[in-house]
Amino acid sequence: VYSSNGIMKPQTATFFDLAQPQLEAVEAQMMRSFDGHHPSLDDAISHLLSSGGKRIRPTVAILAGKMLDVEMEHLILHAAAIEMLHTATLVHDDLIDGALLRRGIPTLNARWSAGATVLTGDYIFARAAHLAAQTGSLALMESFARTLMTIVNGEITQLFELEPNSLQKSYFDRIHAKTASLFEVSTEGVALIGGCDDETIETMRIFGNNIGLAFQIVDDILDFTGDQESVGKPVGSDLRQGLLTLPTLLYLEQIEDGRTLARSLREKQVDDLELEHIIQSVRTSSAVDLAIQEAERFTQQAEELLSHMPAKPEREALIEIARYVVRRDL
Ligand code: IPE
Ligand code: IPE
Ligand code: MG
Ligand code: MG
Repeated sequence: VYSSNGIMKPQTATFFDLAQPQLEAVEAQMMRSFDGHHPSLDDAISHLLSSGGKRIRPTVAILAGKMLDVEMEHLILHAAAIEMLHTATLVHDDLIDGALLRRGIPTLNARWSAGATVLTGDYIFARAAHLAAQTGSLALMESFARTLMTIVNGEITQLFELEPNSLQKSYFDRIHAKTASLFEVSTEGVALIGGCDDETIETMRIFGNNIGLAFQIVDDILDFTGDQESVGKPVGSDLRQGLLTLPTLLYLEQIEDGRTLARSLREKQVDDLELEHIIQSVRTSSAVDLAIQEAERFTQQAEELLSHMPAKPEREALIEIARYVVRRDL
């Protein structure tokens, strides 16, 4: 379960075992090809999926579905739809960010024109919608569409936002939009297709939200503390892009003139040498631990919500995932 450095890898963690057979069916759904469509679309999808990825969202969905006794065929379609939607957002995100590496291999935009990359992303979005529609649940489709609007609104806000009143509020709005909203629909959607009562639907939505917020906080920490080799994507890039994430915000609260420095960082008016110095300072400050504690508060809330759910092995596995989310190193 533990790698040599003592940190749990998702594929070797026990929570993964309980979802393994269903995850294989999820892979098959995602890899399905469509007659008469250009082979480069299948090639792109297979390139993206075979390069790895933690499959954390479909794993959470499958475990939640087994805990709530949701019909398996629909559950698998839902989990595949979620991972496809995730994959499509990454294709577009890497193009927007100009990132050349993802899951340890070149991104589509590293090899293809922007046009071909955008279209392939669109195709994968449509495949996600197609999978979700096959569940026959209009409520799920509605939730999917709303989530995609939230994600895109979050990305646009990140591009255009002027100086916000509260940097922390802006940060939490942003990570909800870009990450937690997809975890929300992963878990809420399970309860929707399972025809669960309103209280269960809401509990599962908030569970997903909490896991998602913690997951993104840790992603933002790894941008400071991780190494490209194990994370599989460029690190140290958030501050260089003028993006202030939780470790930076907590660091800025600890120093004099933090507000002024925040403005310079957002406006990218800090030279490379000073930037390296600031990145190093954040990395070695107590802000990293404080950010981890913040993430732990969300996963603790997530764990508490599960106490209202059926006591099954899958519930314990979801608790394990919540703990994994804050301890992961990739
Ligand atoms: C990457 O998500 C984008 C974020 C929301 C942080 P993951 O870390 O789940 O990416 P993969 O699917 O495992 O590559
Ligand atoms: C992730 O955003 C993409 C979306 C969830 C839309 P980031 O740009 O922060 O994630 P990485 O670091 O590229 O995975
Ligand atoms: Mg990115
Ligand atoms: Mg990031």
